Amino acid sequence: MKRLIPILTLAASLTVALALIVPAHVAVAQDGHGPESDDGGGEEHAADELAPYRGAALYAEFCQACHGPQGEAAGDGPAFAAIAYDPETARAIIAEGLDTTPGDGALMPAYGEADGGLLDGAQIDDLLAYMATWDTGDTPPLPAPNIHTEVERVEGFSGDPAAGAVVYAASCYGCHGPEGQGRGVENFPGFAVSGDTLGVVRTGTGSDTMPGFSAEVGGPLSEQQLDDLDAYLASWASAEPSKSGGSDIPEGTNVLLIVMGAAAIIAVGAAYMSQVVRTET
Ligand code: HEC
Ligand code: HEC
Repeated sequence: MKRLIPILTLAASLTVALALIVPAHVAVAQDGHGPESDDGGGEEHAADELAPYRGAALYAEFCQACHGPQGEAAGDGPAFAAIAYDPETARAIIAEGLDTTPGDGALMPAYGEADGGLLDGAQIDDLLAYMATWDTGDTPPLPAPNIHTEVERVEGFSGDPAAGAVVYAASCYGCHGPEGQGRGVENFPGFAVSGDTLGVVRTGTGSDTMPGFSAEVGGPLSEQQLDDLDAYLASWASAEPSKSGGSDIPEGTNVLLIVMGAAAIIAVGAAYMSQVVRTET
């Protein structure tokens, strides 16, 4: 009979752990970025209908910075090319990247996981499904960018930081993550805000991978938008303590914390029970 008690405790701990872990996974899937987001759950048809919508979210995050909302080119410079969409070649270009004219300050970065990017095959399918709607005219709207809604205004910057957050979300987030910490893969590095940052944003780094965004060099951003972006980037420095909280993979981190918490509960439970058993024998 006494043996039942530790077993029951363990069972209870596991139930609690599962109850915590399962919703976390669902949250990752619903977020649309998680790898689980594409298991059609048997409803093939419904899943296909949603593909352009999932693709629109991915396009808004990763592609509109250079290609504009519907592939029409975001600016005049070589990095902001229009997409002449051909589904046969587009898949390979999205996955592997493209640089037909090295040294011209522009390339198409590789987005496929196998080439140091962030997208799996199902996500590239979703992107293609979205891009295919440009021809049919049945194009879903791009979702609003994922932005900071309350932005601290820092002395000495004339721009509007809230407007700058919108600029950042559309033009920078896809490659640099929520607060410039990078996206955890080689192609999409982090950057630290300094006095030079806006200069780099204006003209680019001189490599083919980070284009200049000011209208002067053929980029999509007006002087007003650059001022706004400057004011927004300044707000990160003043909110320094929260920086680590803005991790690019919060869901994954949460799952890890929950698993560790559950393990701790189980360990404490087990230690307690072994104590009880020992004192009783
Ligand atoms: C840094 C800006 C940039 C971003 C961001 C970007 N591209 Fe590109 N893309 C380019 C450039 C530049 C080219 C042309 C490269 C060349 O020809 O050397 C290109 C070419 C392409 C082509 C081939 C165009 C054609 O006419 O053959 C496709 C398709 C494409 N991109 C899709 C995408 C998708 C989808 C995304 C988002 C996942 C994306 N791009 C993100 C800059 C970008
Ligand atoms: C297509 C992906 C892409 C986009 C979009 C992009 N960057 Fe970059 N950025 C890079 C890469 C890659 C580097 C690394 C430097 C290099 O390879 O030239 C970089 C470098 C930088 C640097 C210099 C970092 C250093 O340590 O020298 C800054 C600052 C920067 N980016 C800010 C921005 C801002 C702000 C935006 C939005 C206006 C932006 N980037 C948009 C890819 C991108």
